[in-house]
Parts: sequence; structure tokens; C-alpha cells
Amino acid sequence: MSDDVELMTLRIAQKQPAAQDIEFFELRRPDDGDLPEFTPGAHLSLRVPNGELRKYSLCNDPAERDHYCIAVKRETNGRGGSVSLIDHAKVGDDIQVEPPRNDFELAKSPQYLFIAGGIGITPILSMIRHIRATGEGRFKLFYLSRSPEMTAFLDELKQPEFRGMVTIHHDGGNPDDALDLWPVLEKPGAQHLYCCGPRALMQAVRDMTGHWSTAKVHFEDFTPPGAMTKPEDKPFRVKVAGSGASYEVPVGKTILEVLRENGHAVPSSCESGTCGSCKTKLVEGEVDHRDLVLSDYEQPENIMVCVSRAMGDEITIDL
Ligand code: FES
Repeated sequence: MSDDVELMTLRIAQKQPAAQDIEFFELRRPDDGDLPEFTPGAHLSLRVPNGELRKYSLCNDPAERDHYCIAVKRETNGRGGSVSLIDHAKVGDDIQVEPPRNDFELAKSPQYLFIAGGIGITPILSMIRHIRATGEGRFKLFYLSRSPEMTAFLDELKQPEFRGMVTIHHDGGNPDDALDLWPVLEKPGAQHLYCCGPRALMQAVRDMTGHWSTAKVHFEDFTPPGAMTKPEDKPFRVKVAGSGASYEVPVGKTILEVLRENGHAVPSSCESGTCGSCKTKLVEGEVDHRDLVLSDYEQPENIMVCVSRAMGDEITIDL
């Protein structure tokens, strides 16, 4: 977990607007030396000025060793991390950063399909830069946003070199004008699909890819567990099979948090229902599956404890 990892000090070398409400940052070591390596799709955790730790995807080419690039959307209705970073961090400031981690690894494939919504372009941009630099595979990108003004890296992705590979679609904020993705998702083929963006977009893509191999569909999401709370949430009990242990899971807490508080070591990484590392055996009970990992076939016997909840009063899991 983040709290156990040693932070390094990096300096903000550049900060500039990338689009409306999106700020681009370049981070370097104070001595300009090489940074820890990263792979396409990796992210950093930063200690933002208000003291919180926040995750941001790296968007530069992993071959660049002397700087990291991130782009941050200013979420005025968020928990304050992005506002703190954009409003209070400036060029020349030192900032504490965890070494890169990757829950959105680029698999080896001859063909990739990328779907990015808004600021979800960032990890995909690092993948595209890697693919273009190495020549390993071909790709198609569908980049969805509200308007050109709100689209980061638009000039770069409109360059002629991307013709035939990149489709940019603006819906003007009207769901009726959203791009119909079914024609590109209907036939899975050999490609791997990577999708990052608003939860509703990822859920829609998940729903349209039920016939894909789950091993070929990848999502990335930094939505905090608390933000996935639904108004209809109720407390319930989680029983641990064979141990006699039974715990109350209140509204606003995840099963994972409750298990940890009670001394159970459960593996996790993304804690947003996208990476698959907290997959737990479901013994009994009905589940409101909120992850983007489990297939329809896997859901009856498994639960992702970082996001999913019981439908009724109780479920039993096996750790
Ligand atoms: S920790 Fe990633 S799916 Fe639960």
C-alpha cells in the first residue's frame, strides 16, 4: 500500500494549461538525474499541497528517463487533490512522489484498441508513444470528449501522422450525440482493448464487451471507493467462511476496508474495481457487482471486495 512506500522528492520543471481545466506538469529530479523506469500505462502517487496522496497516470514515452509528465483535470466537485495541485503547486516547487506503479500494463499484441474519455487519455498517450517509438503493434484510438477546448493533447493527436489511427469525437455534453462504439467492439479479433475515462463510459464499454475474453479488456480508474457510494447503499454483514468471523460493513466503507481493520490481509492495488487483485471467493449471498473485471460467468462465485457490496443483509466469503 502507498503508506509503506518511500517517497522521492521531485521538482516541478514545467506547468502549463493543456486544455480547459486541465494542467500539464513535468517533474524532474532536483539534480536532473535519471528517474526510476516506468512502463506504458503506469501512474505516480503524489503528495499534493494539501497533504493528500493522489494518483495520476504518466503520459510521456517510458523511454524518457529524465522526466515524468502528467496532466491533471481540475475536479471542483472532487476531494480537493486536483484543485490543491493545480492552484497551489508552481514551477520550482519540490513535491513528494512514489515511484511509478502499473495496474494497466500493456500486453504484447499485434493490435490495440484504445478508448479514452476526457483526461483518461493520459495512460493511453504513454502507450501510444511507446508503440510508435518501438514499432511494436498497431493501434486505433477513439478519444471522446465534450468539446475541443476541453480536449488535452488535441493538436498532437490531430497531426497527419495519426490519420486513420485516431478518431476524436466531441459530444457537446449531450448523451444523444455520444459516439456509438458498438461497431468497433462488435468483433473482438486478436486485439487488446484499453479503456480509461469516466466510470459511465467504462461501464458502457464493459457492457458491450461481454463477448470478449476478459484477459483482453483492460480498464483504469482512480475513482476513490467513497465516490462509488450510491444513495441506496445499506449496511450489511460479511461472514468469513470457516472462521466464525462476521463483520458489519457500514455505508461509506468497503468490504476490503472492514476486513483490513479486522486483521485480514487481502491483496489489493487499484481499489477501484479494475485491476483484479482483490478477487475473493463468494460462498453465499447476492452481490451488487460494481467492478469492471469479473465476467458474467465469474460473478456468481466471486466478488471484488474493494468496490462491490451485498444486495441483501449478509454475504459469506472465503479468504
Ligand atoms: S483492488 Fe483492484 S479490483 Fe479490487
